[in-house]
Amino acid sequence: MPFFLSFKFRLSTLLAAGLLATGPALAQLPEIPAQRLGLVPLPREVKTYAATYALPQKISIYAASADERNVAGLLKELLTALGKTVTLTTSRPAAQITLLTAATPNPEGYQLVVDKAGVRITAASGAGLFYGSQTLVQLLPARAAAPARVPYVRITDEPAFRWRGAMLDVSRHFFPVSFVKKYIDCLATYKLNTFHWHLTDDQGWRIEIKKYPKLTQVSAFRKETLIGAQQLFKTPAEFKFDATPYGGFYTQAEIRDVVAYAQKRYVTIVPEIEMPGHSVAVLAAYPELACKPGPYQTWTQWGVTEDLVCPTEQTFRFFEDVLTEVSALFPGKYIHIGGDEAPKVRWKESAAVQDIMKKEGISDVEKVQGWFNNRIEKFLRSKGKKLIGWDEILEGGIDANATIMSWRGEKAGIEAARHGNDVVMAPSGFLYIDAGQNPTPHSPNEPLMICCYLPLDKIYNYNPLPKELNPEQQKHILGPQANMWTEYITTPEKVEYMLFPRLLAISEVAWTPAAQKNYAEFLPRMSQQFARLDAHNINYRVPEPLGLDSLSMTRQGGKAVFTLRTLVPGAQIHYTLDGLLPDETTERYSKSLAVPLNRHLTVRAVTIAPNGRKSPPTELLVK
Ligand code: ACM
Repeated sequence: MPFFLSFKFRLSTLLAAGLLATGPALAQLPEIPAQRLGLVPLPREVKTYAATYALPQKISIYAASADERNVAGLLKELLTALGKTVTLTTSRPAAQITLLTAATPNPEGYQLVVDKAGVRITAASGAGLFYGSQTLVQLLPARAAAPARVPYVRITDEPAFRWRGAMLDVSRHFFPVSFVKKYIDCLATYKLNTFHWHLTDDQGWRIEIKKYPKLTQVSAFRKETLIGAQQLFKTPAEFKFDATPYGGFYTQAEIRDVVAYAQKRYVTIVPEIEMPGHSVAVLAAYPELACKPGPYQTWTQWGVTEDLVCPTEQTFRFFEDVLTEVSALFPGKYIHIGGDEAPKVRWKESAAVQDIMKKEGISDVEKVQGWFNNRIEKFLRSKGKKLIGWDEILEGGIDANATIMSWRGEKAGIEAARHGNDVVMAPSGFLYIDAGQNPTPHSPNEPLMICCYLPLDKIYNYNPLPKELNPEQQKHILGPQANMWTEYITTPEKVEYMLFPRLLAISEVAWTPAAQKNYAEFLPRMSQQFARLDAHNINYRVPEPLGLDSLSMTRQGGKAVFTLRTLVPGAQIHYTLDGLLPDETTERYSKSLAVPLNRHLTVRAVTIAPNGRKSPPTELLVK
């Protein structure tokens, strides 16, 4: 593998710097293919050898600095869950696992060495030590096993991108603190470092703001919710609602608790406060912020509404007050101000907006949003924060300090990088993970979802660095982000279903350089993660069997022959030819399936994972 070549140079640099304890032990051993380790995301440089270190039942972790002790504490929790007894020590000779801080080329990089002397993780920062410890955990069995044998390895690793993000929309549906923490754990485990928390939208405001108590008394609740997929109704007259009040919010104490939880795992939270659009929930509580007299109500359906805040001085005061409290709660430098999907119908009709345009010399109402954003940008800067917004903020003209989140494809991101703005790539066609996982949209075999088909390989093969940009402009691409919108995702279990196994692909988009990515090699590594997801009670979508398609079909003596396989280790495939849904009581696949041609039989097959959970069926009509 080509990345081994550069390893030699890097290793010698590290050795010269005295960073790696070395001896003849590793070098004299035969190497084995690194692919077998099943690591996700794929590390930059891996050497592994045909020998193992037996991690004893009682383990001491050497940790001295605050970051080392923090990571040692988290590692202790994970090892304890694997049945080990773990203590922290400040005596190096007594330790089986050593955490050491030393300079690395990338602040988030690390080296992990396992040999006869035990485990050593070296990194420049707590984040690097944390990522090294996550790699170590992936080298251990998924569940308690004695003894735990760790393959000898020498891994030198660092991320391709600084921003490795995932968003969770808690407005359309609300998720409790316990689940937000689990979501953060999922990101951190797979080396993502940015959690974008979509806290406000038309359908609910979710963060306590002391100065505006009605945000949590009124805006955090809606009287009911649309039933079913909105886009399948022809007109709003056909909408049906569930007549059930819905809502929730996080207190500031809960927000602080989540922030501390994320910090401990080296995840930065980017809070999003939507303005000026997606703000009807605000108007339900504070109708005086609208251009047009209310009353308003927290929205009960999905989509884009023409009702939004008016860009008046009163509105600026409101958002500046809100952002003051938000800035104090979140230590990260970015605050997301939304900015997407803000129709100007109300602004066009408004005398107040006409006055602003006259006073500011703005001739196009669309540019009023740019003026609004730039005032908010200056305010955030005065608080020591950086503004980030959806790509619409580029349209009204935006300060070069602002960061653009490119969601309507990559075009806006490319333009922004050319202007010198930083960019996060979140194109909906590749990274909107509320999209379906089944080739048939609205398949009866999948839970209800918003639309589309976003296959795993399309996510995996996404490269956040557009070819259209030169290397200097590419430096403005901070990295990729996947977005989980929740109009149709009502429970934590469904978030997990939409998130996995996709997060594993996203993790390589964000961490692994494009030149090292290979989908065919990713799949068997991904397969090795399912047992780990089971151990963490994650409701991943069990992949359907592969091979039931016309391209994989061969013909033999009037029969169509299929060779099926599953991506889930230890899983069984069951099938039917009679139109019924396969389950554990139907025929079990054991050898290639020969189906008579010309009988119009539909073959249906499911994977049944070792935990008993089934994939959606895959099916093919054999003609
Ligand atoms: C968006 O999806 N409206 C940012």
